[in-house]
Amino acid sequence: MTLTTGYAHTPVMTAQVSEYLAPEADHVVVDATVGGAGHSCALYRQLGPGGFLVGIDQDESALAAAEQRLAECAAQQKASGQTPAAYLLLKGNFRDLDRLLAGVPLGYVDRILFDIGVSSPQLDDERRGFSYHPGAPLDMRMDPDGAAPTAAEILAASTEAELAALLRNGGEERWASRIAHFIVCARAQHPLHTSDDLVEVVKAAIPARERRAGGHPARRTFQALRIAVNDELGALQQGLDCAVGWLAPGGRIGVITFHSLEDRLVKTSFAAWEDRCICPPDLPVCACGRGAILAPLTRGALRVSTAEAQANPRARSARLRVARRSVPEAIQHKKNTEGGTGTGHHLSEKTEERKSEHEQTRKEVF
Ligand SMILES: C[S@@+](CC[C@H](N)C(=O)[O-])C[C@H]1O[C@@H](n2cnc3c(N)ncnc32)[C@H](O)[C@@H]1O
Repeated sequence: MTLTTGYAHTPVMTAQVSEYLAPEADHVVVDATVGGAGHSCALYRQLGPGGFLVGIDQDESALAAAEQRLAECAAQQKASGQTPAAYLLLKGNFRDLDRLLAGVPLGYVDRILFDIGVSSPQLDDERRGFSYHPGAPLDMRMDPDGAAPTAAEILAASTEAELAALLRNGGEERWASRIAHFIVCARAQHPLHTSDDLVEVVKAAIPARERRAGGHPARRTFQALRIAVNDELGALQQGLDCAVGWLAPGGRIGVITFHSLEDRLVKTSFAAWEDRCICPPDLPVCACGRGAILAPLTRGALRVSTAEAQANPRARSARLRVARRSVPEAIQHKKNTEGGTGTGHHLSEKTEERKSEHEQTRKEVF
């Protein structure tokens, strides 16, 4: 899909996101990485009056594109006689979800989506320095107004050991030590300012026979630097932890990742929320009473279809995991006996009820 603002990003696995998150008309939906609002629009169309969508991004240009897209979606709904849901766009890092959502009136979330990584416009804009455009500055900050050091600053200031660790941890680069050594030698001659400065050093560091295998030789180095510049894994961990705390009982969280480091982090975090029992392994029945906070809705991670991978090669490595916030027994029992938040309830009563259920369960998370 090409957006009218010139912000062209094709959202990945949209059908699976809509199917597994499946928001109801009056739900509160948070898109923690709104980008060009491709996923947001798909989810927004599933909402109705009483529904509320919050879109978050740390990139101002993404928010401008999202605003235009969501306004178009709302106008289309009005034109076809429907009352569109409300929406709100917030600039910020999803690691600060608690602070960002504290100002949102409803106080709980029914659905939350993270679509991690960089968007196509970020990758394609050579001024951002995310890929190997000749002469592109080594910047890589997703929030160009933020205080984080640029890739060039990290390359200039880190020790050889720090660079090697960064390349190993964020890029799983097997030539990490050699590349780090070559960077340190090269920067003693002249600072590394542009992507081609760095590509040249990486090519020199990797033996010729290895360079020919497995895509661009600097791919892992660029990935590792981008992850370090934006502290992507730290932000993801914090964002996930906050998100689980905001989910109302029965709420759903979906996370799309694009490389194994992120997917591993999501898998481990979900598993920790699923299995919180701290009883000794030899105890025959659970005595700690720490029930599961999340239950998986996808079996493992969903992958893109062959057709989608062919149509959008950037989607190839995407993986989607979705989990559901469990409903504590006391709340489930109340729903079963009283009919829960069934159709007879007025919208504001349902909202108040979900808010109160969320308040009862939030303390379980922390
Ligand atoms: C893959 S794109 C999302 C595309 C979006 N789902 C769509 O349909 O257009 C990722 C977006 O997340 C943003 N982003 C990445 N990490 C972030 C973070 N820690 N906090 C806020 N936004 C972040 C990026 O700026 C980018 O716009």
